[in-house]
Amino acid sequence: MANITYIEADGTSAQVNVPDGWSLMQAATANGIEGILGECGGSCACATCHCYVDGLLMSVLPAPSATELDMLDNVAAERRPNSRLACQIKASAALDGGTVQLPETQE
Ligand code: FES
Repeated sequence: MANITYIEADGTSAQVNVPDGWSLMQAATANGIEGILGECGGSCACATCHCYVDGLLMSVLPAPSATELDMLDNVAAERRPNSRLACQIKASAALDGGTVQLPETQE
């Protein structure tokens, strides 16, 4: 379980307890986080789950796969060094306390 804070582009935030093994995209869509769409259902094929991860998450997450990097080329909003796809981030205790900022747009 990881307690993750999602911050929408308008500054509103929500904390979600994400079960181990769930992706941060799954948890967002299941909890009404509007800034993540997840249109492809998590198969790394739509880039509508773009998020900006904080320093804690940057330090514990494995590097993005080649597929994720390819899809990050297609995000609608500005791509930043801390851009990731939320469907490719699986929750575990190591992520507890992390924050993801959501972009202005996903499409
Ligand atoms: S949900 Fe489609 S790439 Fe993440």
